[in-house]
Amino acid sequence: MADATELLDSGERLDPEELRALQLERLRTSLRHAYDNVPFYRASFDKAGVRPDDCRSLADLAHFPFTTKADLRENYPYGMFAVPQDRVRRIHASSGTTGRPTVVGYTDADLSLWSDMVARSLRAAGARPGDKVHVAYGYGLFTGGLGAHYGAERLGCTVIPASGGMTARQVLLIQDLRPEIIMVTPSYMLTLLDEFERQGVDPRSTSLRVGVFGAEPWTEQMRREIEERFAIEAVDIYGLSEVIGPGVAQECVETKDGLHVWEDYFFPEIVDPISGEVLPEGEKGELVFTSLTKEAMPVIRYRTRDLTRLLPGTARVFRRMEKVTGRSDDMVILRGVNLFPTQIEEIVLRTPGVAPHFQLRLTREGRLDALTVRAEARPDASPETREAAARAIAAAVKDGIGVSVAVEIVEPDSLERSVGKIRRIEDLRPR
Ligand code: DLL
Repeated sequence: MADATELLDSGERLDPEELRALQLERLRTSLRHAYDNVPFYRASFDKAGVRPDDCRSLADLAHFPFTTKADLRENYPYGMFAVPQDRVRRIHASSGTTGRPTVVGYTDADLSLWSDMVARSLRAAGARPGDKVHVAYGYGLFTGGLGAHYGAERLGCTVIPASGGMTARQVLLIQDLRPEIIMVTPSYMLTLLDEFERQGVDPRSTSLRVGVFGAEPWTEQMRREIEERFAIEAVDIYGLSEVIGPGVAQECVETKDGLHVWEDYFFPEIVDPISGEVLPEGEKGELVFTSLTKEAMPVIRYRTRDLTRLLPGTARVFRRMEKVTGRSDDMVILRGVNLFPTQIEEIVLRTPGVAPHFQLRLTREGRLDALTVRAEARPDASPETREAAARAIAAAVKDGIGVSVAVEIVEPDSLERSVGKIRRIEDLRPR
C-alpha cells in the first residue's frame, strides 16, 4: 500500500530547507498574532522581555515563555481567543478529569486546516477517497468524533458517524455497512473485539483494512494484538484539543515507525520536563507545540505533558515523534521508581494466559505506596496458567522496571471496559 508521491499535498512535497523557511515565516506571524490579540500572551512576553520580532530563527523560539494547561484554565472560557467571537465558528472542550474543562475555538480557516490535517493523516494511514470510514470516536465537545468526521469527508471518504458506545450496534454496523477504515481509541477497539466474539462473529472476517487509533497511549504489543485479532493494519494518530484535535501527527502505514508531526502547521519542541530546557533532537522529554497558522486560539510553546522524542523524517519530510510513552501526570512514582501504564501494557500483553485487559490499583500500606496490577485471565486459562502468569508479570516488572508490585489475575470479563479513553489507574490512596 505504498503511498504514491502524486498523492502528497504541497506541504508534504517541501524539501527540508523550504520547510524550515516556511516554518520561520509562519512562526513570526503566529507570535505577532498572539501578542497583538491575546492579553495573556502580551503580558507573558512582556514579562519575559521578548517581542515577536525577536524571533529571527527557529531556535529563537526557546526564548519565549511556555503556556500551560493552568494558563488556559485561568483564562477560561474565552480569554485565550485572538479573534472576535463572531469569527469563532465552533467550540470544543477537553475532557479535564478535574475542575473546569479547557475550552478551545476555531475560525472557518482553523476548521478547514483541521480537516486538511485529518485528511492528510488518513491518507498516510492508507485510506483513499471512496473508502468508508467508521468513526467510533465520541462526537460532541471531544475533538475526536467531529475532527475525524470532517477530515474523512475532506479526503472524499464516506463517513459512518457511529460515535462511541452502543457496542452491540457497532458490530452490526461494521458487518452490514462494510467500512474499510475504523477510527477509534485502541481500548475501545478491544471492547469491540469482545463484542464480536460474544456475537460469534469472526473479527478477522470484516471488511476493515486499517484502524486509525489514538487519543490515548498504546504500545507495539497492543498494535500486534489488534492487527492479529482483526487482520487489519493498525496505525497511530495523535493530537490534542489545545493544538487542534486529532491530526497533529500520524503514523504512515508503509513504515509504522512513529508519527510524522505535521510541522508545517504545528511546530514541535522537546523540553526537559523539570528545567524547561530545549533538548537536542533524539532525546526524550516533554512535547511542546506552537501553532503556526491558527487564528482563533493560537498556542505558543504549549506544554502537552506528553513524553516522547523527535526523530528525523522517513516516509515524509517532517520529523517523527516516537509513540507517546505516557503523560507526566500518569506517571506513578513507586518507592522512587518511575512507572508508566504503557510499560505494564507491554508486559501484560506478552504474557500467556492473560487477556489484553488490565488495570493498575494504587494503595497505601503504612507510609509506602503499593501497586497492584490487575489483569484479566483469558477464558481458557487454567488455574496453573493463571498462577504462572501472575508470577511472570511480577518478575517482568521487577526485572524490567525495577520495582516490586502485586499481581492479581481476575476473572474474564470482570474489569471495566472502555468506551473511549481508558482510565488505567485506580487511585485508592487516602488523600
Ligand atoms: O484526544 C484528540 C484525539 C482524538 C487524538 C482522537 C487522536 C484521536 P484531548 O482530549 O485534548 O484530544 O486529549 C489529548 O490525549 O495530550 C495525549 O495525552 C493523549 N493522546 C492523544 N493521542 C494520543 C496518541 C484528543 N496517539 C491528549 N498516543 C494528549 C498517546 C495520545 N496519547
